[in-house]
Amino acid sequence: MDRIHITGGVPLNGTIPISGAKNAALPLMIASLLTGDTLELANVPRLADIAALTRILGNHGVDHMVVGKRPGQTTETGQTIRLTASNVIDTTAPYELVSTMRASFWVVAPLLARFGEAKVSLPGGCAIGTRPVDLLIMALERLGAQIEIDAGYVVAKTKNGLRGAEIDFPKVTVGGTHVALMAASLAYGTTVISNAAREPEVVDLAECLTKMGARIQGAGTPRIVIEGVARMNGARHEVLPDRIETGTYAMAVAMTGGDVVLENTRADLLHSALDILSTTGAEITQVPGGIRVRRNGAGIAAVDVTTDPFPGFPTDLQAQFMALMTLANGQSQIRETIFENRFMHVQELARLGARIRLEGDLAIVEGVDRLKGAPVMATDLRASVSLVIAGLAAEGETQINRVYHLDRGFEALEAKLARCGARIERVRA
Ligand code: UD1
Repeated sequence: MDRIHITGGVPLNGTIPISGAKNAALPLMIASLLTGDTLELANVPRLADIAALTRILGNHGVDHMVVGKRPGQTTETGQTIRLTASNVIDTTAPYELVSTMRASFWVVAPLLARFGEAKVSLPGGCAIGTRPVDLLIMALERLGAQIEIDAGYVVAKTKNGLRGAEIDFPKVTVGGTHVALMAASLAYGTTVISNAAREPEVVDLAECLTKMGARIQGAGTPRIVIEGVARMNGARHEVLPDRIETGTYAMAVAMTGGDVVLENTRADLLHSALDILSTTGAEITQVPGGIRVRRNGAGIAAVDVTTDPFPGFPTDLQAQFMALMTLANGQSQIRETIFENRFMHVQELARLGARIRLEGDLAIVEGVDRLKGAPVMATDLRASVSLVIAGLAAEGETQINRVYHLDRGFEALEAKLARCGARIERVRA
């Protein structure tokens, strides 16, 4: 298995191009199942999760084409893909494929809406809590689907198509909102989603669905209204920038010190996280086409954080922020409200010398003067990258094992950091 070696203690200086958002690209690719026409997606990141979803869509019979490279494109700029679901041969998504990535479960919605049936394995994905799909199933049932769980599969059917309905989520769910949006787009009549997720990736999906002929209002607010249409068409859409990748590199600079411009990204995608980073002492400025992050000389101030659905502080940046706080002047308290059991990075950060105490959903971090490199183990996607950040700031060598977690969500991680002076390399097994 590949490893990453980091020799820490080097400030980051330079530019980092930000990729398209994994969490937007996945539902957008799944939306291709809603139509027999071609959906062209630009700025799609090259990631293991994207490859996994491509295999799942391929298994349903979706044609996948990568559009040739254009002059000036490097592997650090996203790819353009074309997906055509004109000949769907199978509405089953098998365990072997779905178990590797939770988001692949969302294929249930377009398959059911367009073909009246879907059989999809219960999902896998990062081991961060139980992560049930009860709310996704509830949304489909509200739209008139008959659903049974049979031998680890969700079997969904509808006799005369889905019907618009009121879907009131008792808890904000990104996946539930994606599923409801896709299913309701092809349902008969009007659907109202209450307590909808407001994440930028939901807005991106709604924009693409609208280009495909859907009638959607209110995406980005807690109340989304969808007028169902009988059929949808092809479209071209560019995936929005990855706000989690943006925030991750911003935190890396805040931790190591230095001066980096994050290109092809937008500050409005992560206001709360950038505000908090400024409070820790990093200097954040908007520049044309990106964000500049600097920290020179000043210490890192301890700041408390609670994760929340958008526009709150994202749970997907919690581990990275904790890494930063391990070197803060004083104590910070980090509360995780979205996922239980999302503190697996704590024991690995401790190997580098971090002082963190857990009390239920609260992590209490006592800042230390320095971290010292050590061998550590990646446990899930975001936890892994927190170890990279900590390793960049630690003295000496850090070796990160099980890096396949990183490949699921961070495109060209070593190359992007190395171009800013980081001493980081992958050792292939
Ligand atoms: C998405 C993101 C993930 C991010 C998360 C929260 C993708 C591919 N993944 O995951 O990176 O961390 O949003 O911002 O976009 N829940 C239920 N029942 C359900 C569904 C969810 O109880 O049927 C709970 C979950 O256990 C969790 C909370 O609701 O506690 C939020 O989960 P959700 O927003 O659905 O996360 P995902 O869409 O899986």
